[in-house]
Amino acid sequence: MSSVSHASASTTQIVRPARSLRGSLTLPGDKSISHRYAMLAGFAAGTSRLTNFSTGADPHSSLGCMKAMGAQVALDGRTISVTGTAGNLHQPKHNLDCGNSGSTMRMLAGLVAPQQGVYTFVGDESLTVRPMERIRKPLEAMGARIELTEGHAPMTVHGAPLKAIDFDAPIASAQVKTAVLFAGLQAQGVTSFAESVRTRDHTEHALRAFGVELERRDERLYIQGGQKLQAIDATVPGDMSSAAFFLCAALLFEDSNLVLDLLGMNPTRAALLDVITALGGTIKVLDVQEQYGEMAGTIQVNRSRGGLKGIDIAGALSAQLIDELPVIAAIAPYTQDGIRIRDAKELRVKESDRIALVVKNLRAMGAEVTEHEDGMDVPGGQRLRGGIVDSGMDHRIAMAFSIAALRAEGETEIHGAEAASISFPEFFTYLDELAVR
Ligand code: S3P
Repeated sequence: MSSVSHASASTTQIVRPARSLRGSLTLPGDKSISHRYAMLAGFAAGTSRLTNFSTGADPHSSLGCMKAMGAQVALDGRTISVTGTAGNLHQPKHNLDCGNSGSTMRMLAGLVAPQQGVYTFVGDESLTVRPMERIRKPLEAMGARIELTEGHAPMTVHGAPLKAIDFDAPIASAQVKTAVLFAGLQAQGVTSFAESVRTRDHTEHALRAFGVELERRDERLYIQGGQKLQAIDATVPGDMSSAAFFLCAALLFEDSNLVLDLLGMNPTRAALLDVITALGGTIKVLDVQEQYGEMAGTIQVNRSRGGLKGIDIAGALSAQLIDELPVIAAIAPYTQDGIRIRDAKELRVKESDRIALVVKNLRAMGAEVTEHEDGMDVPGGQRLRGGIVDSGMDHRIAMAFSIAALRAEGETEIHGAEAASISFPEFFTYLDELAVR
């Protein structure tokens, strides 16, 4: 990177091409796990100590909401202490501000629905148009009342004593699963939940970490209401979805060498490692540890000799890679055989319409791409030129195209680059350290 300029509210980052990517990193804690630990620590009895907590703005929105509902939070860099409310959330004095974070809004809806009180959730421009109906349905079936604004935030949850339900999720969403399990934890009876595509299971591990009994039988989860949570002392593994940017960058150069320590390797999040291997990367797992059901390891990534292969991503794999698809698509022109993505319609309702924005930005860099309702086809064997990228204020778009820029001809301007701080504030600094120019 060479310069940063501030045009009105938006920051432009210039990304120059690189010759290689080399170095080692310990990434800040996983965003998904940090959200769950923040919420459950704020709900548990006692003081939890969370090391390597995410530095992203989103998990800090969750912490802010828990604070507004009575948890005490002390920050010391990446280490956080949270003293919980022992199951009694306070009625907040103001609206609960979720910022850009859909996870905060949807998962907390489940935590507050069985509480006594009225909770109004608000968010930024992007969050205000994201679908919330998906959590309203199960929570209302349990007995809460939820007011939405045309299916979106602002959202007001009128808490009530809830009764257990058996819920079959119509969409693959770990956030919906979490909302139902958090509500079931406080409902009368045993709540069960089934999903047709297995989504990330951090909530299951986190609930057990805090002392909750949760059963999995015949692909259904069962949670008995009325269980109490106890504080934990935990280290959050590094974020695989943040690692994705550097893993894809490492693929772009034959002599790249990347070592990532304490990287979260939960199998429901690790599909990317198979994609990296399929495209032509080699991954050595140097060490693996486990804490509270979450695996963390040290990996070394290089690229095999020869060009990058292509891949077709569809079905359950699309759901498992949902956060990594933008960067996979952004490097697709550099593969030999191209990348085809399907069954990823959910990308259209993320922090931005990620299908439309990926297609627009690939074209801005001179690539050919065909847009589909649920994905895209990016042919291989293409050369990209530096161009003007619009992040749409979506963190993953800003970072994905910074990686595409490493092999483009000429400089790329990333407009709205500050969006990266939603999940990964250190991204541009680390990229600068790792890129060999
Ligand atoms: C998340 C689940 C996914 C993912 C998001 C984080 C989570 O969303 O895209 O970044 O932490 O549970 P959905 O549950 O909407 O698929």
